[in-house]
Amino acid sequence: MPLLSPRLRTSLMLGLFGSALGLASPAFAATAPAASASMPKHSFTIGDEDFLLDGQPFVIRCGEIHFPRVPREYWKHRLQMCKAMGLNTVCVYLFWNFHEWEEGKFDWSGQADVAEFCRLAQAEGLWVILRPGPYSCAEWEMGGLPWWLVKHDNIGLRTTDPRFLEPAKRYLKEVGRVLGPQQVTHGGPLLMVQVENEYGSYGDDPVYMGALRDALVEGGFDVPLFACNPAGAIANGYRDDIFQVVNFGQGAAAKSFETLRKFQKTGPLMNGEYYPAWFDVWGRKHATGAPEPIAADLDYMLKHKHSFSIYMAHGGTTFGFWPGSDRPFLPDTSSYDYDAPISEAGWVTPKFEAIRDVFAKYLQPGESIPPAPAANPVITIPAFTLTETAPVLTNLTKPVVDATARHIEAYDQSRGITVYSTTLPAGPAGTISAKAVHDFGWVFLDGKAAGVFDRRSRRYELPIPARKSDTRLEIVVESMGRVNFGKEVYDRKGIQGPVRFDAEGSAPAVEVRDWKIHPFELDASDLAALRFAPAKDAAKTKAAGPSFWRGSFEITEVGDSFLDVRNLGKGMIWINGHNLGRFWNIGPQQTMYIPGPWLRAGRNEIVVLDMIGPAKPELAGLAKPILDVLRPELDFARPARAKGEFSAAGVTAAHSGQLRPEPEWQTAKFAHSASGRYLAFEALEAHGGNTHATISELDATDASGKVLSKAGWKILWVDSEEVTAEAGYADNMLDGQPNTHWHTAYGNNKATPYPHRVVIDLGESTSIGGIRYLARSGDNSRPGRIKSYSVYLSDKPFGLALPE
Ligand code: GLA
Repeated sequence: MPLLSPRLRTSLMLGLFGSALGLASPAFAATAPAASASMPKHSFTIGDEDFLLDGQPFVIRCGEIHFPRVPREYWKHRLQMCKAMGLNTVCVYLFWNFHEWEEGKFDWSGQADVAEFCRLAQAEGLWVILRPGPYSCAEWEMGGLPWWLVKHDNIGLRTTDPRFLEPAKRYLKEVGRVLGPQQVTHGGPLLMVQVENEYGSYGDDPVYMGALRDALVEGGFDVPLFACNPAGAIANGYRDDIFQVVNFGQGAAAKSFETLRKFQKTGPLMNGEYYPAWFDVWGRKHATGAPEPIAADLDYMLKHKHSFSIYMAHGGTTFGFWPGSDRPFLPDTSSYDYDAPISEAGWVTPKFEAIRDVFAKYLQPGESIPPAPAANPVITIPAFTLTETAPVLTNLTKPVVDATARHIEAYDQSRGITVYSTTLPAGPAGTISAKAVHDFGWVFLDGKAAGVFDRRSRRYELPIPARKSDTRLEIVVESMGRVNFGKEVYDRKGIQGPVRFDAEGSAPAVEVRDWKIHPFELDASDLAALRFAPAKDAAKTKAAGPSFWRGSFEITEVGDSFLDVRNLGKGMIWINGHNLGRFWNIGPQQTMYIPGPWLRAGRNEIVVLDMIGPAKPELAGLAKPILDVLRPELDFARPARAKGEFSAAGVTAAHSGQLRPEPEWQTAKFAHSASGRYLAFEALEAHGGNTHATISELDATDASGKVLSKAGWKILWVDSEEVTAEAGYADNMLDGQPNTHWHTAYGNNKATPYPHRVVIDLGESTSIGGIRYLARSGDNSRPGRIKSYSVYLSDKPFGLALPE
């Protein structure tokens, strides 16, 4: 159809089809928001059975996309891709910290200009669902919560604690000011707004949810407000004045909607997050999902007129410092490709086509799906060398002094790296330790490497040799993303002191004091202050410890590219001043997406911070991404597991019992509490005589039934886990995510018979009164549902050899 003004086009189409089909109703006109200066206002309500757009039933075919994860120059392209996949709505999180990184200073410009993003969505004929937080999760730094909240000791995050609630309400008011005018009721594309995010997986206080609801209303939102939760958490904090949607993955639609209906007797059934795959964390297998089961689930939901939101429709890239960490501490990759139907660079995928084919069957009369826009140009960049270096330890920033070493927020540092330095007096060998070091601490004695503190295995103790004279102790601490899920969001970074030195022999440990703390926010001014020198000898530079490197390359054509970082170690990259994000040679991600608009014809400059040093200071730009190559052998400090054969000889089972196969929480109370530092769970038999064992979540309770924190727990040993065909790590039973699970090995004929056992190190001897268990999600046909089991507790590691 020739290009006519949107208003004219709409009325024409109405005229044409409406009369043709005798449907002169607004429904057709309302399937896509009109995009003209004077926006028609619409009503969007929740009926007894359907969503009603201008009073007409409306099924939401939604997909999630995060504007901070897409270069602004590509917003329009990605939105056109969403439309071309057959979506009629996009779902958008706001990340509070992205708009208020400094307390009281809001930013809604440039990459943070969400109002413009909404206008572009409307222009592409897409409605918008808004999820402003204040907490969002989303594998984003601290789940979207601002770092400055944890400057307060003992603050209650995501509670009615005024130190949390007041700034949260101020932020939501600001959101109302910026996005209120974008509501359908005001001529914009915004259909409904979410209150918090999966709050039921964190707390159960309806007053808190009510306070946020009221803040959104006071902020000017008059469209429906809703909340999302996985099925098992809907009850927590439930309010009947907030519409509920349910989040679930593959094969769980019918069951989840059944559970939702138990709470919400009327109204349309909507899925708030449907996962086509999952996110990646460093050191774990790249998550993927086949198109077929997704197409089947979406077909099922559309057949039943259920609405949904695909999480993620387009993942994009978590540039800069923004990647969070999954609990307990599993840092998220910078690529957020998520194996989504629209790839990280905005390409069509087989999943995209499978979904579009399903949607094409369920279009409203007169509705059509436009063709996908052309992909953006892609270039390769011939290999180039980083020719200059600037070691961190000889480029220190202005220090603050402190008698005792504290977390970085106490020094008003928000992120980056921090060098803690002091003097260790001459004296005997011993060990140095801290309560915790978030997240990695490279230790140097008079400039020589002396080991690494590693949060993954909670290695917060290191041997220190004897010293003939006073010795300079420097600890270069790298803060990765703050944990974005669960109680671990209280993720203060840096050294959680006091630091102690425990000399060999009987003398009591002493506190190491009088520190200089050199904060590196790694912002433009820090980078500009670096003194680079020609990189003479890579090995020497490597010995100098964490270093910045610099190089450049020339190109004639500009286009997207994938920076090959396989020669590098672990750190962060800036290209022409843009913070591209983190890299880590253990993978699975081995390339970094470079958006074309961040490159320029001619000379382009790269700065790299490498904490462990490159194998070779050489990079190149590839035409395709590499997101699925694990290199555990390169890990500088592999989280160690115990070795040897499991034996419970001489240990009486604290409890034995039966489990149901359903993916619902099951609690078992022991006849008598039992104590020990090590908890062994022994699966004896599976439902259906299967040889596999799987567990989604395993908790322990005290004698009163209260669920104990798992913050200090780690998997010490497991007889079998599948880590090739899927990411079936035993650690999954400790991550608080109902969508991940431990799965015993099955790839390459590695299946092993029952019994299957896992040993958890609780960190200290603990009195346990029971366990809480969640089977893997999905229907009972999924293998590995444990039937009978026993639990053992002991202060000895069941005959296993503890890691060095
Ligand atoms: C949850 C959260 C999302 C995201 C997904 C995993 O359900 O609500 O923000 O973290 O898990 O990608």
